[in-house]
Amino acid sequence: DKDGHKHFMAKEIAEQPVAVDTALKAYLDENDAITLPDGLDFTQIERLSLVACGTAYYACMVAKYWFETIARLPVEVDVASEFRYREPPVSPGTLALFVSQSGETADTLAALLYMRDKADVIAGLVNVPESSIARESDVVLPIHAGPEISVASTKAFTCQLTVLLLLAIKAAKAKGLPLPEGMPDDLHALPGLIHQSLASEAQIAAACRDLANARDIIFLGRGALYPLALEGALKLKELSYIHAEGYASGELKHGPIALIDESVPVIVMAPKDALFEKTISNMQEVMARGGRVVLITDADGAREAADGTADVITLPKVPDTLAPILYAIPAQQIAYFTAIAKGTDVDQPRNLAKSVTVE
Ligand code: M6R
Repeated sequence: DKDGHKHFMAKEIAEQPVAVDTALKAYLDENDAITLPDGLDFTQIERLSLVACGTAYYACMVAKYWFETIARLPVEVDVASEFRYREPPVSPGTLALFVSQSGETADTLAALLYMRDKADVIAGLVNVPESSIARESDVVLPIHAGPEISVASTKAFTCQLTVLLLLAIKAAKAKGLPLPEGMPDDLHALPGLIHQSLASEAQIAAACRDLANARDIIFLGRGALYPLALEGALKLKELSYIHAEGYASGELKHGPIALIDESVPVIVMAPKDALFEKTISNMQEVMARGGRVVLITDADGAREAADGTADVITLPKVPDTLAPILYAIPAQQIAYFTAIAKGTDVDQPRNLAKSVTVE
């Protein structure tokens, strides 16, 4: 049931304030203490190995920033199809964490089985608690997104990120480290911020009528927004069949800038954070070569950097730690509205299946 929406994807995008709130409430008690299932004790963990595919892999890439900066734990992130054949050595004290919406992705499951007698703890971060990955894990971490029908993953991604951030905070506490300013209190603002950011829909739909005519589109981001650039590009390819690439904005001048001309829209994700000036200087390099920039930022960022851009999408101001979760919303909406403008099948894109149970 699409609940009055035209597509399951639209419904699932709109459900995110409630889905993220449900995920938060499942892990936070009334004193904001994070409760984890038995068997996961971060005082015993020295490093993490995160393994997943597709959108879940990008959630892991964001989590690497969080675990390393907040909890000072070294993290390796791998796509499951590579990890399973590489026979990676595993050090003592490793938590192997497998992230999968469906819990049935064949490569992720095979990677888990490889880690079976090697990692100290195997955890499955899944949306479907009765899935194969959940069954094979020592510890199951449900993301509580509710059923996700559309092939494009939306609310599962933001709920994966929410639970991964809670784990990073829990790990920091276990090590006696100070939390980033405002944490964990600011977590409670997240559902409201997502709700507010959904209101940029009309601005995004207007920008997408132009994007739909492009042959190639580039997404740029820095720090924890770099994986969001990758996620934005994946979602757009998946739904609109437009060639899209995400780059770390600092990498642009090492090659990809050769692609830029008037015909290539460049979507820049740049909240006004510590890395803002750097990303904006990369954005200006793009504009100097005729690139048509769509800037996604907050009101402060727009005031400083809107000049010369083709479009600005303004999101609410968000604590730095939470930005990757909030910027997922426009990434999803850009793919959705570009697909609408192109007339492609939003919920069931060609050549794709919701869960990939073969290699
Ligand atoms: O069920 P999983 O999370 O294991 O699925 C992983 C990928 O197949 C999935 O995220 C895919 O990339 C999505 N269609 C992206 O929107």
